[in-house]
Amino acid sequence: MVDLPVRILENKRINGKYYKLVFRSKRLAARVEPGQFLNLQIVPGTDPFLRRPFSYYRLEDERIEILYEVLGRGTALLAARAKGDGLRISGPFGRAFKKNLGKKKRILVAGGVGVPPLVFLSERYGCDYLLIGTKSREEVLPKRELAGVRGKILYATNDGSYGLKGYVTKLLENLIKNFPAKEIFIQTCGPGVMMQAVIDIARREGLEGEASVDKPMACAVGACLGCMVKTPSGWVPSCTEGPVFKFQDICERL
Ligand SMILES: Cc1cc2nc3c(=O)[nH]c(=O)nc-3n(C[C@H](O)[C@H](O)[C@H](O)COP(=O)(O)OP(=O)(O)OC[C@H]3O[C@@H](n4cnc5c(N)ncnc54)[C@H](O)[C@@H]3O)c2cc1C
Ligand code: FES
Repeated sequence: MVDLPVRILENKRINGKYYKLVFRSKRLAARVEPGQFLNLQIVPGTDPFLRRPFSYYRLEDERIEILYEVLGRGTALLAARAKGDGLRISGPFGRAFKKNLGKKKRILVAGGVGVPPLVFLSERYGCDYLLIGTKSREEVLPKRELAGVRGKILYATNDGSYGLKGYVTKLLENLIKNFPAKEIFIQTCGPGVMMQAVIDIARREGLEGEASVDKPMACAVGACLGCMVKTPSGWVPSCTEGPVFKFQDICERL
C-alpha cells in the first residue's frame, strides 16, 4: 500500500449518473486486481476529515480511472475538482474478486456504484454475462465505456426505458434457468438490497458466488472497526477481509 499525491488528468460527468476521474500513478496502479479499492482525500486539509473509498475502475499502465456517483458532500466536492488539481490517494486496499473460475460460467450482477469493479473484472478476465441494473436509460453507461467488456451485456431498467423492465435480479433469474447450478459462479456489487436479493436467489438455487460488501469506511486498514461484517468466524473489517466475501461468509442482511 502507498499514500501519494497525484494530479487530476480528467474529472468530468459522463452521463446522468456517473463522473469519471482520471489520474496517473505507477505505484498506485501496481499489482491491482478487480475488486480492490483506493482511499481518496478529496480536498487538502481536514474538512471533510475522512477519506472516501472508491473501486478501481480501469487501469492502463500508469493511468487509473475511477467512476463515481455524487452522493453526499464529499463526492460533490470531488466533482468540483478540476484538471491539474492535486489529490492525495492511498491504495490498493482489500481483497479482490476470484479470477480463476475453472469451467464455471462467470455471471456478474452490477447496480449503481457497483458497476465499476465489475467492468474492470470483465475487461481483465472476461465474463459470460454482465447484467447491469439501473433506474432508467439516463443512467446507462455510454457504449464507449463498455467497449472493453469481454462478455455479453444485458440491461434491466426499473422503468423499462432500456433493456428488460424490472430489477436486474429478474435478468438473473431468467438467465440461470439455462445452466445447471454447479456450472454457475455469480459475482455481484451494488446497492445492499440488490446484492441481498442476489444472495437470496443463490441460496435458494444452490449457486456459488461472491459479493463486494459496501460499508462506509474511514481508515481502510482495519483500525477503526467502522466497516465490520458478520461472518461465520465473527465480525471482521470489510476493508481488510473484504470488500469481496463469499456468499456463505456473509451472515447479515445487506
Ligand atoms: C469498497 C468500496 C468501493 C466503493 N467504490 C465506489 C465507486 O467505485 N464509485 C462510487 O461512486 N462510490 C463507491 N463507493 C461508495 C463511496 O465511497 C461513497 O459514495 C462515498 O464515500 C460517499 O461520500 P460522500 O461524502 O459523498 O457522502 P457522505 O456525505 O459521506 O454520505 C452520504 C450518504 O451516503 C451514505 N454512505 C456513505 N458511504 C456509503 C457507503 N460506502 N455505502 C453505503 N452508503 C454510504 C451515508 O451514510 C449518507 O447517507 C465505494 C465504497 C466502498 C466501501
Ligand atoms: S475502514 Fe477502518 S476498519 Fe475498515
